[in-house]
Amino acid sequence: MNRTTLKLSALAIGLGFSALSFSAFASAGYYNEFGQKAGITSIIDDFVGNVAADNRINAYFAHANIPFLKTSLVNQVCEALGGPCKYTGPAMAPLHHSMGVTQADFNALTEDLQLSMTKYNVPIPAQNHLIGILAPMSKDIITK
Ligand code: HEM
Repeated sequence: MNRTTLKLSALAIGLGFSALSFSAFASAGYYNEFGQKAGITSIIDDFVGNVAADNRINAYFAHANIPFLKTSLVNQVCEALGGPCKYTGPAMAPLHHSMGVTQADFNALTEDLQLSMTKYNVPIPAQNHLIGILAPMSKDIITK
């Protein structure tokens, strides 16, 4: 390896590291913008309340274990935002596959979440970041 190649490699490694630390910082930033675990817990509580009051989709949740669902959602969202939590529940596809969820149902649930994020003053880019993580999950959740 000549001197120029060495310098370029060092530069590439340096850039790699700063990209890595920047993305770690960025996701911790989103976690903070949601008010960390306490903020996420309030948002999920409110969101599940919205879903329960939403006649477009509340029938799906008639027999759900709501406290358990809330805990799972808090952990899932906290982990997705770079927080120190771990979702340990079932994968999205087997969990939802027999429910017959439609795109309209999925959109309704997303709207209910957006209302709660707005109520708890989550900045719009941070809201969009979470929606951007959840949206691709629709391929595992929508079956109709
Ligand atoms: C990105 C969107 C969604 C995510 C991230 C998500 C995530 C979850 C999670 C984490 C659980 C609890 C899993 C557990 O620990 O047992 C759950 C349960 C459930 N989800 Fe979803 N879900 C989404 C969309 C939907 C939609 C659109 C519907 C229907 C309108 C739906 C209906 C349900 C129901 C009924 C349960 C309760 C199952 C039970 O307790 O037996 N989900 N979901």
